[in-house]
Amino acid sequence: MKLSIIGSGYVGLTTGACFAEVGHHVVCVDNDPKKIEKLQAGQIPIFEPGLEALVKKNVAARRLSFTTSTEEGVAHGEVLFIAVPTPPQPDGSVDLSFMEKVAREIAQYLDSYRVVVDKSTVPVKTGERVAQTIRRYARPGVEFDVVSNPEFLREGSAVEDLMKPDRIVIGGNSDRALALMQKIYEPFVAPVLVTDINSAELIKHAANSFLALKISYANALAEICEASGADVLKVAEGIGADKRIGRGFLNAGLGYGGSCFPKDIAAFIAISDQLGVPFDLLKEVQRINARQLERFLDAMREALWVLKDKRICVWGLTFKPNTDDVRSSVAVALVERLVAEGARVTVYDPKGMDKARELSFAPSVEFATSPLEAARGAEALAIATEWAEFAAVDLAALREVMHTPLVFDGRNLLDPVAARDFGFQYRGVGRGLVEPRG
Ligand code: UDX
Repeated sequence: MKLSIIGSGYVGLTTGACFAEVGHHVVCVDNDPKKIEKLQAGQIPIFEPGLEALVKKNVAARRLSFTTSTEEGVAHGEVLFIAVPTPPQPDGSVDLSFMEKVAREIAQYLDSYRVVVDKSTVPVKTGERVAQTIRRYARPGVEFDVVSNPEFLREGSAVEDLMKPDRIVIGGNSDRALALMQKIYEPFVAPVLVTDINSAELIKHAANSFLALKISYANALAEICEASGADVLKVAEGIGADKRIGRGFLNAGLGYGGSCFPKDIAAFIAISDQLGVPFDLLKEVQRINARQLERFLDAMREALWVLKDKRICVWGLTFKPNTDDVRSSVAVALVERLVAEGARVTVYDPKGMDKARELSFAPSVEFATSPLEAARGAEALAIATEWAEFAAVDLAALREVMHTPLVFDGRNLLDPVAARDFGFQYRGVGRGLVEPRG
């Protein structure tokens, strides 16, 4: 099928590449000429495992191309996916101006039937607005349908999530549009859930909020574990073994970050407030999440007394492993707070250093070339992102290079007993304090 994706960011580019991979002919549109130039030259603006190979392969097979022209996109695709940014506003609600602009642009070029798909994460009832906008700006009589088709991909495993989704959600109210959508997804082996547009939009916010709720639940448990001497990892294992609960997303730590959870939970709270049904449970989820960094900093102050002038090594800058994304990263927030308190911070991250160098704290910290280099002379080590590389570090060598053997493990990555055996004073999240032997 001929498909167009309007907006070639994280979701748009990966979706376009995966659709091309299963045989569709895809045009990806973006209004940033530099990005399109790079993509045309085979350069991928983000680090995402498998994506570069997929893009190159499908460009070579002439199933995937890039343009800055929305007109070209509208002319090409029988189905037009809108995958533009939906950034947060200061009050937590979503800025839908990119959606609205693209809806107007599509309307302007529409000359025969098209399905317009909301792929971006949007608050419930956005589809209705998109349809209203297209109707208002399109020439009279031109036919179209609006569909909601939320995307559940995770950064770091986006290609795999798209190729092998748990489910495909299609929200629409026209048989013609739904038939086309089902045809697009025929090559994918996954259950398809067909709903109305509003339900599909809600599913996305509700799914992300539920996952964030699980994380905050684990973090609240962590606090109780610390106060009672229990181990949050064991508790998570014990409750997660119940199939109704599941072990996923019960990892206590510094809390969730990234470009989705914080924004989507705030947006869900905002739209619920607007609908007159405040979702107070989610406000508590946010509060617990924010408290994690404060508790971590308190633990560091407790051990180090004063942070000013202390040499502190931070491992991790990205909001999670296997990505180079540092947006809304708790690791970045930690570094910013340490710098603000006058600590001398050295950082290392396997993939996030380039993007972190563009952040405002960059001139105030040292960027190291390896985890051990970062830890050299440090009076404390803080682990902020759960990269496998950190778990594999030689603890004897780490003990050797550090000035003081203090480890604050914000992601429960290291084995506390092994850390103690190598002479570290170790503090995880929800696992109590483990003192060195002897
Ligand atoms: C998330 C959703 O998982 C995905 O379905 C949606 O489409 C977009 O938002 P993503 O933001 O890529 O994906 O990351 P995810 O793997 O969900 O992790 C989000 C954050 O939660 C990370 O900061 C991670 O470190 C944190 N997290 C995750 C925990 O603190 N504990 C956990 O148990 C799981």
